[in-house]
Amino acid sequence: MSLAEKIDKSKLPLHIAVIMDGNGRWALKQGKDRTFGHQNGVEAVRESSEAAAELGVKYLTLYAFSTENWKRPKYEIDALMKLLVQTIDQEIPTLNKNKIRLNAIGDLKSLPPDSSKRLEEAIEETSGNDRMTLTLALSYSSRWEIENAIKQIAHEVQTGKLQPRDIDCNLISRNLTTKDIPDPELLIRTSGEYRISNFLLWQIAYSELYFTNVLWPDFRKEDLYKAIMDYQCRERRFGKISEQLKKA
Ligand code: FPP
Repeated sequence: MSLAEKIDKSKLPLHIAVIMDGNGRWALKQGKDRTFGHQNGVEAVRESSEAAAELGVKYLTLYAFSTENWKRPKYEIDALMKLLVQTIDQEIPTLNKNKIRLNAIGDLKSLPPDSSKRLEEAIEETSGNDRMTLTLALSYSSRWEIENAIKQIAHEVQTGKLQPRDIDCNLISRNLTTKDIPDPELLIRTSGEYRISNFLLWQIAYSELYFTNVLWPDFRKEDLYKAIMDYQCRERRFGKISEQLKKA
């Protein structure tokens, strides 16, 4: 029995989020430049997207570039932006073939104009696909997103459209960039680091966290299956106790 067959399809996470980490270390271990790691990370993006869609996962969100990543050396940022455009151009036929819809969250205005233009076009070109939504978090950080949500809500209160008593968790969620996406049930981080790094802080309140030592460019379908199988062994109590879950 293969790993994929061992997965209980009736208990799949609807949404998986991934902090893709370890590209730089993967490249340096081979005496190569960090950008070589990013180039090889594309294969892992392809594998994980395909595996998730084949299983029936409806949403996959990948942390591709954080607002803090702008502090990296310019040559690395340029290489990542170029890779983004190249990958989008290369992958659109496969996304359409697999009926995957591309989506993006983050401060997309801060991307170089050609990258954001190509991204917008790809989002449009795949908008009719309904098997899975692949969201790229680009120039994204959770604190940036929450700050913006608070500003929007404050503005609505100031202009009288909302009363302070209307502010609740649902309203806050509806003002985040992920408003059309359910919260992830599973968050994966590769490369052996145990951090969240400003990713989906609000949305992962009850996510199961899975950390693996695999460096992102080595991440393959089997690694995603292992993460999902681990998730399926967890008891998700949402603050309740085990006995209450058994009665339900
Ligand atoms: C983290 O590894 C990875 C990134 C900041 C970039 C992720 C980009 C890709 C996987 C390339 C392709 C992606 C798309 C969506 C086209 P790191 O550089 O922080 O690694 P390190 O911790 O070993 O230095």
